[in-house]
Amino acid sequence: MTMTITSPASTTWNAWTAESRSYHMLTVVELEHFVRQFPVRRGHVAVDAGCGSGVFSRQLFRFGYDVTGLDYSAPALIAARRTPLPGVRYLRHDLNRGDPPGLPSHGIDRVACRLVLPCLRDPAASMRRVRDLWLSPGGQMYAVVPVVDEHAEQPGGTTEREIDALSSGWAQTVRYDLRGPLACLALRTTAT
Ligand SMILES: C[S@@+](CC[C@H](N)C(=O)[O-])C[C@H]1O[C@@H](n2cnc3c(N)ncnc32)[C@H](O)[C@@H]1O
Repeated sequence: MTMTITSPASTTWNAWTAESRSYHMLTVVELEHFVRQFPVRRGHVAVDAGCGSGVFSRQLFRFGYDVTGLDYSAPALIAARRTPLPGVRYLRHDLNRGDPPGLPSHGIDRVACRLVLPCLRDPAASMRRVRDLWLSPGGQMYAVVPVVDEHAEQPGGTTEREIDALSSGWAQTVRYDLRGPLACLALRTTAT
């Protein structure tokens, strides 16, 4: 399924980063849900796809993950690197251009993609790639998308139909919603 989305260009994200625009802020409620859905073992490897200024990457590190943040916006990565942490690295990468260099296939325990999917050219294809190539057996993806009405003209959102399509094909899917409205998907690959 192809989504029709008006994606902000990387230059737009650069400008928004320069203005220190904040999107949906991380809340305690979101983190409490995350901890419940995503049990962590120290040293688990996580990728934060579309990490922006690294707020969620740093949180993943605090939870015990070894983290790589990916983003194609240079200013966002400069902002992210202003708070260096020993277990967090950032790579410039355009998620519309395939897999990041050096990605260990089936070597990632968690992939977070928070408020990024509606910006991608083909979100469903990107998620299939994460499921079938990036994640380890039993690995999990955390996807957060703004929910929009089927008939809304707003760019940057995801309709219920699109969310259903994004959730299909996984061994386990849990959805819960947060204020925004945001849909959070906890998706798991098969264990073997
Ligand atoms: C709304 S921000 C979310 C940032 C972060 N995930 C968070 O939750 O705070 C979206 C981010 O996705 C990045 N992005 C959008 N399209 C991308 C692409 N094709 N490849 C890599 N990053 C992308 C933007 O540069 C921006 O930093």
